[in-house]
Amino acid sequence: MSNILCIGAGYVGGSTMPIIASHCPEHRFVIVDINEARIAAWQSDHLPIYEPGLDEIVRQTLGKNLFFSTEINRNIAEADIIFVSVNTPTKTFGQGAGRAADLQYWEKTARQILENSTTSKIVVEKSTLPVRTAEAMERILNSNGNGLHFDVLSNPEFLAEGTAVRDMQNPDRVLIGGRETESAQKAVATLVELYMNWVPRERIITTNLWSSELSKLVANAFLAQRISSINAISALCEKTEADVSEVANAIGRDERIGRYFLRASVGFGGSCFQKDILNLVYLCEYYGLPEVARYWEQVVKMNEFQERRFAANMVTSMFNTVAGKRIALFGAAFKANTNDTRESPALEVCRALLEERADIVMTDPHALDNACYDLGDLGKRVTFEPDPYIAADRAHAIAILTEWSQFSELDYERIYASMVKPAFVFDGRNLLDHKKLYEIGFNVYPIGKAPLTRLVANGSHG
Ligand code: UDX
Ligand code: UDX
Repeated sequence: MSNILCIGAGYVGGSTMPIIASHCPEHRFVIVDINEARIAAWQSDHLPIYEPGLDEIVRQTLGKNLFFSTEINRNIAEADIIFVSVNTPTKTFGQGAGRAADLQYWEKTARQILENSTTSKIVVEKSTLPVRTAEAMERILNSNGNGLHFDVLSNPEFLAEGTAVRDMQNPDRVLIGGRETESAQKAVATLVELYMNWVPRERIITTNLWSSELSKLVANAFLAQRISSINAISALCEKTEADVSEVANAIGRDERIGRYFLRASVGFGGSCFQKDILNLVYLCEYYGLPEVARYWEQVVKMNEFQERRFAANMVTSMFNTVAGKRIALFGAAFKANTNDTRESPALEVCRALLEERADIVMTDPHALDNACYDLGDLGKRVTFEPDPYIAADRAHAIAILTEWSQFSELDYERIYASMVKPAFVFDGRNLLDHKKLYEIGFNVYPIGKAPLTRLVANGSHG
């Protein structure tokens, strides 16, 4: 039996460790965090994150081979393997501000591990980090001179929020990076064995440390690039009467392109894509590759353009003013099936419309608390309403910003009847049945398709 510790009980640590624990009953898992409220919530009936299927797994393992704690030092002392999944936000100050990763929590964690260790350990980077972070980590950990040895491995997490349980149960691949030394290779073998409890060996890839660290950034950059590419084309479709869904389908059938991640949208959000691309951009600049940096930076710029374009299109379509108009935003989460609102396009659209002095009411099945928190002072100017029918009542427009399936199941005849006319739907996720909405009486503005509107000036269907 090994004692396995995870430092950081956020989305990454909190969703991966219970699943690993459920497959490895012979090992003891502890998840620690500096945030006491979070640790308490993980042991309550209301987990701090909404992730379908996760509560069941936590219930099955909690108190058996899975424990949550705020006693970081004692648990470090007892651990054989330590996963680190503390957050690494974009730096907001000093050198590399707005791009580089803020590694202060990482370094603090490394020092804390060193101070509290009396035995040698394997330390695993689970957080996404700039390439060569492990080197700094190794230097700090092995600076003790007390005979202890730390092997630092990279094991980036590829799960997506909302499908974390499925992704973790059946991963496309598990990536483990380590040094070439005998001791590091032994550590790699230990981690491979842990995953082999449920992942077929051929899906476990081992690489050198730097390939592993870089692969995580590159995976996210490639995924985000596909969305920015199709979103760029959505703008062109709106000008040319091409339909972006038809284009995506037509190109996606080419196996070399593939059909996933080609859904045009109001933009991508989440804690990873923007942060990781900016990180990649910073790395390229640091290593004297400005052309490569500019190339990837454009993926983020295109995303910002798409978010701005969506909000601007709402204002233009509604007779160039939304001041004082009630607008219902359907969705706050950055994608469906999560309560996470970090970098959510819904909040960007909300901010842009508040600037235009719209009267905003926001509805979401799980993410209203986080939205209110993330909006800060601006949140005071927003009404948060869990019931979409009440949110839409007396509104001039609805904007679909998160692809919750609940939104496609609503009674839009009832909603239309309660709205101010002319009533608008701006579908930032191409989620709804646009033709049906048009027949009910709505003026419908999808992404990357011609609008369906009776307002002669704006549409081709008037
Ligand atoms: C985040 C990033 O989103 C992800 O890209 C990165 O790979 C890891 O960090 P996530 O789990 O989503 O992942 O972050 P978050 O939900 O903020 O969780 C981090 C946790 O670490 C928080 O609960 C925080 O309290 C805890 N923490 C942070 C510590 O326990 N100690 C610290 O010193 C700092
Ligand atoms: C992503 C990666 O998918 C995952 O492998 C990595 O570990 C963390 O970052 P996540 O951010 O949880 O996961 O969600 P993801 O499903 O990738 O969606 C990111 C954003 O892109 C969301 O806002 C989503 O709505 C948007 N998106 C996704 C699109 O706009 N169109 C698409 O076709 C796909």
